[in-house]
Amino acid sequence: MSSTIKNVAIIGAAGALGSVILDKLIASGQFNVKVLRRSGSKSIVTAGIDIAEVDFTSLDSLKSALAGQDAVVSAVGNEGIESQILLADAAASVGVKRFIPSEFGSNVENPRTRQLVVYAPKVKVQDHIIEISKTTDMTYTFVLNNVFLDWGLQHDFVLSTSNSKPILIDGGDLLFSATTLSSIGDAVVGILSHPDETKNRAVRIHDLVTSQNQLLALAKQAAPGRVWEPVTVSLDDMVAKADERLAKGILDMQTFAPYLSRAALDPNYGGKFEQTDNELLGVKGKTEQDVIEIFKKHLS
Ligand SMILES: NC(=O)c1ccc[n+]([C@@H]2O[C@H](COP(=O)([O-])OP(=O)(O)OC[C@H]3O[C@@H](n4cnc5c(N)ncnc54)[C@H](OP(=O)(O)O)[C@@H]3O)[C@@H](O)[C@H]2O)c1
Repeated sequence: MSSTIKNVAIIGAAGALGSVILDKLIASGQFNVKVLRRSGSKSIVTAGIDIAEVDFTSLDSLKSALAGQDAVVSAVGNEGIESQILLADAAASVGVKRFIPSEFGSNVENPRTRQLVVYAPKVKVQDHIIEISKTTDMTYTFVLNNVFLDWGLQHDFVLSTSNSKPILIDGGDLLFSATTLSSIGDAVVGILSHPDETKNRAVRIHDLVTSQNQLLALAKQAAPGRVWEPVTVSLDDMVAKADERLAKGILDMQTFAPYLSRAALDPNYGGKFEQTDNELLGVKGKTEQDVIEIFKKHLS
């Protein structure tokens, strides 16, 4: 493939992650960026950007919007994951060279993680993209960043702090990789700037390896006056309850969350990256002081 990517289409550009990636793509000054938005979407994106209204169920609509693009970066939210199958078909058929699907999570290269029900849509999309790459010129990169650090802290995902009763899983000392949205944006720019080194593989990035107890210690520094009453839970118990709900056909976040925790924290599921592509992709990492600043914003 040509080693230069210039025209980049982004999907999900108004989302929590997509909006940060969009800003990083623009700030890099290296790309002509085009946003593909669902027809009728009320989502707001950075002013002055080329926007195409697209019917994501129509191959022709997608092909017309993607003509002339070198790369597609998708940051669609979870409801839109399977819509990327047609998106990838359209991209390959109009000569898009690199497809980055909305992955941005746990280590789905780990066979145990790959089998968790919660990742089935993403695995299906990955498998489809890998198949397309065998018969077309389209290549792919999957971004693995394990948990979102700043977003996770703001949404009680990595450590629940909103009610001062953080839930510590298996005692809170499990080590895991964590990445800020900003660093994921840097990594996407890094991938598009290094297409050959990132061709047809997953890249791993993180800002730091931490634990819930380490994060709690930093939260205490950020909010010294607060009284913390941690609650310890067993990951196996959480997952057993999720299995029961799943068996009853209850498919909601209460069912899925324990599987996300399993993938992110359980050492057997690969959520602590031993090696990363940080250096190649320009991910600089975060210090404990950076995490304290994140907590200060969130806990104030
Ligand atoms: N690792 C972690 O801790 C973690 C945490 C959260 C999320 N994630 C992952 O990060 C990725 C992005 O998540 P997010 O929370 O940033 O997403 P989000 O905020 O929910 O994203 C919303 C965006 O997705 C688009 N969208 C929604 N449904 C769509 C559909 N059916 N077809 C096409 N586009 C659709 C919207 O498009 P319009 O602009 O057209 O309205 C909007 O721009 C996902 O893969 C998610 O699983 C990872």
